[in-house]
Amino acid sequence: MNYSQHEKDMLTGRHGEASKLAMVILGELGSIYRAKRMIQISQAHIDMTLYMVDAGVEFAEKMAALGGKFSVPTQLNPASIDLERHEQMRVPAELLEKSRRLEQAYEKMGAIPTWTCAPYQQGLVPSFGEQIAWGESNAVAFANSVLGARTERYADLTDICAAITGCVPEMGLHLEENRKARILIRLENISKKMFENTLIYPLIGFLFGEIAGDKIAAIQNMPLDISTDQLKSFGAAAASSGAVGLFHVLGVTPEALDISKCFDGRPPEKEVIITPDMIKDAEKRLTQTTNLNPDLIILGCPHYSVNEFTNISNMIGNRRVNKSICFWIFTSRKTHKEIQRSGVLGKLNSNGIQVFTDGCPLQYPKENWNFSCAMSDSGKFANYCFSQTHLQVIPASAESCVETAVSGRVRKIESWS
Ligand code: F3S
Repeated sequence: MNYSQHEKDMLTGRHGEASKLAMVILGELGSIYRAKRMIQISQAHIDMTLYMVDAGVEFAEKMAALGGKFSVPTQLNPASIDLERHEQMRVPAELLEKSRRLEQAYEKMGAIPTWTCAPYQQGLVPSFGEQIAWGESNAVAFANSVLGARTERYADLTDICAAITGCVPEMGLHLEENRKARILIRLENISKKMFENTLIYPLIGFLFGEIAGDKIAAIQNMPLDISTDQLKSFGAAAASSGAVGLFHVLGVTPEALDISKCFDGRPPEKEVIITPDMIKDAEKRLTQTTNLNPDLIILGCPHYSVNEFTNISNMIGNRRVNKSICFWIFTSRKTHKEIQRSGVLGKLNSNGIQVFTDGCPLQYPKENWNFSCAMSDSGKFANYCFSQTHLQVIPASAESCVETAVSGRVRKIESWS
């Protein structure tokens, strides 16, 4: 590894103990991947913001105590909980205390308290070709694929090191040659009507992740007018079923406008077809219950955008959520402010929908709620739900979630023909 003078100074501790430790860790990472040098990044997004284990809190506190300061603008992924509405969320004292410790450590190092897994919906959006260090699988997939920025899938803790040093090893998806597609996935016989049901995007994403694994794949025959919210939900599901850090949607995403360039002029190593039957099967595999009475509708995985809130508001109209159901939506503080200002938040509250910020739907304090079955429009949530929350889960479109919430019984509009 060739280090610049500044990097060498960090390694010898000239810029403090935190920079030294961070640089040693990144140097080790670089040598595992045979990186030749470090490259500068313009910003970082830290994933280790949920309280999972004490080691995460201790590492952040140690770096802060050693004088660590983020040298590039650094945003935060969600906390485990809504840090502002923790009473409403019935957060146990210990979880609140651990979350506060993480908050203090990151604030001390200079983080921007965004607390969102959709940093691409915030103000600090990287542009095409920008080298960044982001953690959180859906954010990484979106940054690389939709924005054309360049980041590896940074594991917890290495993202903190990158934020402190302002550099990362030149490896993986930072390099042009590693961003070319190798697998071609083709959608076949998917009708226009099927694409009108928004659940199709996370279901195709789930299949895409299973097929691609850790290889770069491109998908053909997606609608050319696919929205950024649909790309978001596709990418989040893909990055949950496979190690997908970059996907290409032919004719849509910036590095896939030309199929030949996308594959670097080479034929695909493998071609796979996705059919309507495979989509039906994916929905069946993700539906982990026969329960027809979900008691929780949970949206915002990844965090909801202003457009998604507006759609829910239009779908529900003046109707109210059935008393047997809790309807929760998670978002960022910034989006929360925007929907508050526009009046959408007040209307949703009067419909009986609660909106939380900061937190992650998978991390809600299970011990203080007695839910048994959740419905969600998120393929990522459905994929992880049972293993992380022990709740049974029904994946459904946002429209089906709203109709179910109002009636109190499953009302699915999905039909794949
Ligand atoms: Fe975000 Fe939590 Fe889903 S971090 S993508 S809401 S699992």
